[in-house]
Amino acid sequence: RIQPVILCGGSGTRLWPKSRPTRPKPFIPLIGERTLFREAVERCGDGAIFAPPLIVAGPNHVPLIEEQMASGEDHAIIVEPCARNTAAAIALAAARLEPDAVMLVCPSDHHIADETAFAKAAEEAAVLAAQGWLVSFGIAPDRPETGYGYIRRGEPLDTGFKVDAFVEKPDLGRAQGFLADGGYAWNGGIFAFRAGSLLDELAAHRPAVAAAIQASVEQGEESGSLFHPDAKAFGKIEGESIDYAVMENTARAAMVPVDMGWSDIGNWAALQDALPQDGEGNHSSGQADLDGCRNVLTMSDGPRISAVGVEDICIIVDGDEVLVTTRDGAQVVGKLPGASAKT
Ligand code: GDD
Ligand code: MG
Repeated sequence: RIQPVILCGGSGTRLWPKSRPTRPKPFIPLIGERTLFREAVERCGDGAIFAPPLIVAGPNHVPLIEEQMASGEDHAIIVEPCARNTAAAIALAAARLEPDAVMLVCPSDHHIADETAFAKAAEEAAVLAAQGWLVSFGIAPDRPETGYGYIRRGEPLDTGFKVDAFVEKPDLGRAQGFLADGGYAWNGGIFAFRAGSLLDELAAHRPAVAAAIQASVEQGEESGSLFHPDAKAFGKIEGESIDYAVMENTARAAMVPVDMGWSDIGNWAALQDALPQDGEGNHSSGQADLDGCRNVLTMSDGPRISAVGVEDICIIVDGDEVLVTTRDGAQVVGKLPGASAKT
């Protein structure tokens, strides 16, 4: 069976004021009733294909995870002593698994509309992973987004393609070039590999990180379903994402193309795009009266939101905070003083 590894990190400040340090983005319902964390768990819920999830998270996330797991739902959690980005988080999971285990790394802040297409792609990726490939999920790009990784499709393999080039977060000029070229996909941030292959590639390209991970796992402590890696060894790691540390450097990168209604819910505009809209492009959750508005997102957990004649904005009311942003401004919400407050 495929071993899902669910990553819960980051604070999701661009989705403030709904996402707060005490309840970050993966743990709040944003699309429908399920939280993005529950979506990630349930997407890998078919016991014929997937083993129970291994979750890698910071200590502040553990109570939220326990709260959102159904009682008796089998899972294990690796508690990171501190955040050291995805290369370290993924390597911790790999070091806790058998070398031959095929792991499927799943971020907990994505929405995927077609879960059947997801499971099919996971099985295709697992075939390549078992052969030693480091497999990423390739999403057809529809804009020159600079916040994603780009992968250039190479020669065909059994159930996917070799990756000729992996470019993490290119500048706008290069992203536009990749889009015009047509041979590139977005890296969906979902990866499949043998645990042993990932650790071998990490040792080849980031030997110090690989050694620190091994030490922190060897000296770590297990308590029930929680595993605590050794904080001293782990703390020495220089944080870097898996994309820069491994995927850009490995010669064993592969991809499976997948069309599954994927969306990285990175900011309010992205969330707006993933939600159903009325004939004018508006979406409201909670009380709202919109008159002559277009492409407006409103969300309120209390007060009624009334708006007249505005376009392309998001209005979010949560507790004692109100956010109004244009769609273009959504990207910088995380830098507002309110969003960087500690509560
Ligand atoms: N446990 C843990 N620890 N999880 C982490 C950590 C950490 O230190 N850092 C990040 N994560 C989790 C985030 O919560 C998220 O679910 C996932 O790992 C990816 O991290 P992001 O910080 O959101 O990465 P990104 O969006 O900038 O880029 C990645 O995803 C894109 C697609 O969404 C890259 O893989 C890109 O290439 C990709 O296109
Ligand atoms: Mg992301």
